[in-house]
Amino acid sequence: MNILVTGGAGFIGSHVVDLLLKKKHKVVVIDNLCNGSIRNVNDRAIFFRFDITSSSIEALFRNNHFDAVIHLAAHIDARASLQKPLLDARTNILGSLNIIDLCIRYKVKRFIYASSAAVYGNPEYLPMDERHPIRPINNYGISKQVVEHYLDVAHRISGMEYVILRFSNVYGPRQGGMGEAGVIAKFLRQIIDKRPITVNGDGRQTRDFIYVKDVAKAISLCLRKRPKRRIMNISTDVEIPLNQIVEIIRHALKEPIRKKHAPAHPGDVQRSRMDNHVARTQLNWHPETDIEEGIHETVVFFRKQKAAPKRRKELRER
Ligand SMILES: NC(=O)c1ccc[n+]([C@@H]2O[C@H](COP(=O)([O-])OP(=O)(O)OC[C@H]3O[C@@H](n4cnc5c(N)ncnc54)[C@H](O)[C@@H]3O)[C@@H](O)[C@H]2O)c1
Repeated sequence: MNILVTGGAGFIGSHVVDLLLKKKHKVVVIDNLCNGSIRNVNDRAIFFRFDITSSSIEALFRNNHFDAVIHLAAHIDARASLQKPLLDARTNILGSLNIIDLCIRYKVKRFIYASSAAVYGNPEYLPMDERHPIRPINNYGISKQVVEHYLDVAHRISGMEYVILRFSNVYGPRQGGMGEAGVIAKFLRQIIDKRPITVNGDGRQTRDFIYVKDVAKAISLCLRKRPKRRIMNISTDVEIPLNQIVEIIRHALKEPIRKKHAPAHPGDVQRSRMDNHVARTQLNWHPETDIEEGIHETVVFFRKQKAAPKRRKELRER
């Protein structure tokens, strides 16, 4: 298949690109690199530095026939979305609309969209399934929800097939430290830089952490399967307190961790866990990586990343 991945220089996108190339697909990536890095992009992918709101993207659709578009580019900082609602809406709503409109006009058959647990807001029950009330508590969650509606209308008017995947907290190699979602990456950067980690609140708040390669696998399955249910949670359905994450990191690093507490963020939910039954049955998918293994792989990546420039410097100095 010929596949366009928006946000393919980012954390999740770059793992998706690696997997698609492994499966012999042709992959085109667009990313404006505002939060991603060209170093993340597999050499075998074709890369264009484009903003998803730009009208120049049309040339790409004109010159390629994409069988599917995987739309991951977004402004991902939920807390910042409250301070910068226009920036968030410009990328997440107007940028997504630009991509959806091009997909309709150039007859792309399949659209896979990265939505989020943020659409649910404060859990009314746990685990949250796809029928949980949609009451986002930040602008990021609103922007993710709005695009879900646009996709439904796009399908009605054009027949374009779409799948909406609502991810829980994704973690793994290449992650930036933005917002609550990036808490494992943030902790690891703090530890590797020999700083104390900062836990907001008492650390008893829970999250449903899913490893990035399991997310990439779910996305790639959506290319092959034609699920009857178009909206699916992608999660582990396991609730883990932040304090336990700190212990698992301590174990993986085999060294003591200095920890300090800061006040809890007012907008952060206390508990989170998402039901993944629909994805299990519709995609024949399940999360394969347990948290110890995922954190171990993430630690190995961050240590290597920290060592890399030093090694280059050492080589220069020889
Ligand atoms: N990481 C998580 O835990 C999580 C959870 C739920 C949903 N999601 C969704 O998954 C997707 C990928 O998230 P991620 O964690 O990999 O974030 P990321 O920031 O690493 O990746 C997003 C990419 O989009 C690019 N981008 C941003 N604005 C752009 C624009 N206007 N034009 C072109 N490119 C642009 C960034 O440079 C970045 O490379 C996002 O849509 C996010 O909302 C992520």
